[in-house]
Amino acid sequence: MYNQNLIQKIQDGSATIGIIGLGYVGLPLVIRFSEERFKVIGFDIDEKKCKSLNAGESYIKHISNISIQDSLTKGFEATSDWKRIEEVDCFLICVPTPLADDNVPDLQYIFSTLKSVTPYLRQGQLMVLESTTYPGTTEEELLPVAIQAGLKIGDDFFIGYSPERENPGSSDFSTQTIPKVVSGVTANCLAVTNALYKEIVDKTVPVSSPKVAEMTKLLENIHRAVNIGLVNELKIAADKMEIDIFEVIKAASTKPFGFTPYFPGPGLGGHCIPIDPFYLTWKAKQLGVDTKFIELAGEVNTNIPNWVISKAVNALAKSDKPMATSKILILGLAYKKNVDDMRESPSLDLLNKLTNLGARVDYHDFYIPKLTPTRKYSFEKSSVSLDTISDYDLVLLATDHDAYDYKLLVAHSQIIVDTRGRLDRSASNVVAA
Ligand SMILES: NC(=O)c1ccc[n+]([C@@H]2O[C@H](COP(=O)([O-])OP(=O)(O)OC[C@H]3O[C@@H](n4cnc5c(N)ncnc54)[C@H](O)[C@@H]3O)[C@@H](O)[C@H]2O)c1
Repeated sequence: MYNQNLIQKIQDGSATIGIIGLGYVGLPLVIRFSEERFKVIGFDIDEKKCKSLNAGESYIKHISNISIQDSLTKGFEATSDWKRIEEVDCFLICVPTPLADDNVPDLQYIFSTLKSVTPYLRQGQLMVLESTTYPGTTEEELLPVAIQAGLKIGDDFFIGYSPERENPGSSDFSTQTIPKVVSGVTANCLAVTNALYKEIVDKTVPVSSPKVAEMTKLLENIHRAVNIGLVNELKIAADKMEIDIFEVIKAASTKPFGFTPYFPGPGLGGHCIPIDPFYLTWKAKQLGVDTKFIELAGEVNTNIPNWVISKAVNALAKSDKPMATSKILILGLAYKKNVDDMRESPSLDLLNKLTNLGARVDYHDFYIPKLTPTRKYSFEKSSVSLDTISDYDLVLLATDHDAYDYKLLVAHSQIIVDTRGRLDRSASNVVAA
């Protein structure tokens, strides 16, 4: 009965939706549910974020103020008041899932969310985990919490897992057009979860269990991490053979079947690809299984910044300039083009390593005007103007934002190292890396 009532509320638009974690994943969901005229309550422990969202201000570059303001006019509000979980019929958990030391999954944000919501769980609700995690998390961590709260799963309370496939910065796909894998702890849980997502995406992909959905997300990201590791390794081999790997990838991409292009770069970055594969590695190890591809890709990708730096050192040496006394400009701090997200960005690793070699290092990024200390690094710097680019002994293109004028960059740089295959590599001052 509870399942039918909840499905009815979802289908007639009267269900209230809670989104927990108003970040890169949570905010697009807020906007999408609001577009479909659902009343949305956003929850975040960061009161400053809630305040700015309630004032109609987005804090993420590719999410406009207008879309937040539209959501507000349709009833959206952001809060840190957990009691309001009682008001929502369905809530989606979109909190971070980073790695702790030694590449061990750090579920502290999921645990603290569960602790916060537990007093307010009630019959007739759906709880869905969206965060990326290892297979088993939903049934091992979410399910016991709801059972302990006295709820009957699949009968008067529903639990699902649906991984996020957001691709920040890309205009090719949207939350609505990306098919959504959905799962539930029981058949009723799946039916309710599927009904919910059908309201906001063009296509749902129901699977048989949360474990399958959790593993699906990891497969997608492991597939990327391993293939990027492969092309990063091949780029080093190609460089020794004086072959442009980007030209090779372009040619191979003309094969109409059996080949998917992946592109090398200065190393892996972002909140997902460098981290998520190790969630599977950890879980597999618990079961006595080694995941060699994942670990090898991690090793190759982690070493790429060192190789890029060796190319920069050699290029400077050819002009009789030791790295230790050189002025270097890194272009792009974000982990990928056209976004303002520098989580796990290889640019930070490059900045750190070049500084340790004695170079004076500045950066430019259209979208990251200030670099403040992170968990790993203590840099405090501001993005410099591009007007002084010719003063630098070497410019390192780390992130190929579309807003750069690449011809001008080459024209005004003494030496420019290209890690993204974006520059005219026949120019005498361009170094492929
Ligand atoms: N960013 C992406 O492109 C992307 C894509 C797919 C999946 N994911 C996954 O989605 C999850 C969220 O990632 P994200 O990029 O949106 O993170 P994010 O850091 O952008 O946002 C997370 C938000 O959760 C809030 N938060 C932290 N602990 C909380 C708590 N206990 N209660 C309420 N709010 C809390 C933070 O203040 C922050 O606003 C992660 O598991 C990530 O792996 C991210």
